[in-house]
Amino acid sequence: MAASSSGISAKQDLISQLDKIGALAEAELQSSGNSEAIEKVRVGFLGKKGKLSEVLRGLKDVDPKDRPAVGAKANEWKARLEGIIESRKSEFGSQELLSKIQSERIDISLPSREQHRGGLHPLTQTTLEIVRAFARLGFDVTTGPEIDTEFLTFDAINIPKDHPARDMQDTFFVGPGLVLRTHTSPVQMRTLLAKKWPVRILAPGAVYRCDNDATHSPMFHQIEGLWVDRGVKMSDLRGVLDFFAKEIFGSKTKVRMRPSYFPFVEPGAEIDVSCFRCVKTIDSHCPVCKGSGWVEILGAGMVHPHLFEVAGYDPAEVTGFAFGLGIERITMLLYQIPDLRLMFQGDMRFLKQFS
Ligand code: PHE
Repeated sequence: MAASSSGISAKQDLISQLDKIGALAEAELQSSGNSEAIEKVRVGFLGKKGKLSEVLRGLKDVDPKDRPAVGAKANEWKARLEGIIESRKSEFGSQELLSKIQSERIDISLPSREQHRGGLHPLTQTTLEIVRAFARLGFDVTTGPEIDTEFLTFDAINIPKDHPARDMQDTFFVGPGLVLRTHTSPVQMRTLLAKKWPVRILAPGAVYRCDNDATHSPMFHQIEGLWVDRGVKMSDLRGVLDFFAKEIFGSKTKVRMRPSYFPFVEPGAEIDVSCFRCVKTIDSHCPVCKGSGWVEILGAGMVHPHLFEVAGYDPAEVTGFAFGLGIERITMLLYQIPDLRLMFQGDMRFLKQFS
């Protein structure tokens, strides 16, 4: 009897506990102000360690035949509270989403910020292409100073005192015996003086002349080439320039040599390439070759014995060839740039076309 009466009271006790905590949970859910608070109540009542499981731990003291009634009560509260939780969460959820959208509003119709990428200046690109071509023939890059001595720029390489290139109009004198180099040819002499032959060098760099118009700038760039060894011949020069011309202007390019005079070479030549624009037939209005079919690209020749004597070499033992080209000129030809000054104005509309 005692067992039965305690069983009944245990059942009623649990049911009244469930009603108490259920009602409490319901009140808390109704007064919760956001979905976070709702979640806290859910965990507190329905979670694994929540009040509901706590109460149901008392089920072991209930008479087995009364247990279903207690279980039904627990399920009733569980379902009821879950229903409230779901509806309150969806109510807050949509409100919260709306305010999040409003506070974190971004205008996706705005154009994105452009990522600026740098590019190599057209002169740098041309220089690299030329260096790459000659590197395949074993030429090393070297440099010389832009302020050089009058001796190395002129006297040592056989440009006598009365030569027009030394005229005040052409040369920037910067101090007694010092000039802004008017060409890269002093690097020839510096190389001969500094190194023992054989040498095969390429010397790119800035040069300066008192000149300023659409095809001349007071500062421009040249590349000097020099190959000195035993038995270097004019035909080697021809072969090297042939390779270079095909690499830079295209595989169909032909090279032509015209006799010319430069004090530091003998014999000297001006080098033309067949027009790379008039490949099939010559266009009489061609902006590149002006209808002649040929374009002058550089000066060259066999190193003058005078240079070997100054450098202390025996001209009977070694020979060599040298050439010098204008990087601006080659770049203007390659891209048909009408005005050299465009290359020094830093105008992005111009420069962007090369990157
Ligand atoms: N230094 C010459 C110039 O500036 C070019 C050149 C270099 C010619 C080497 C022949 C040999 O015009």
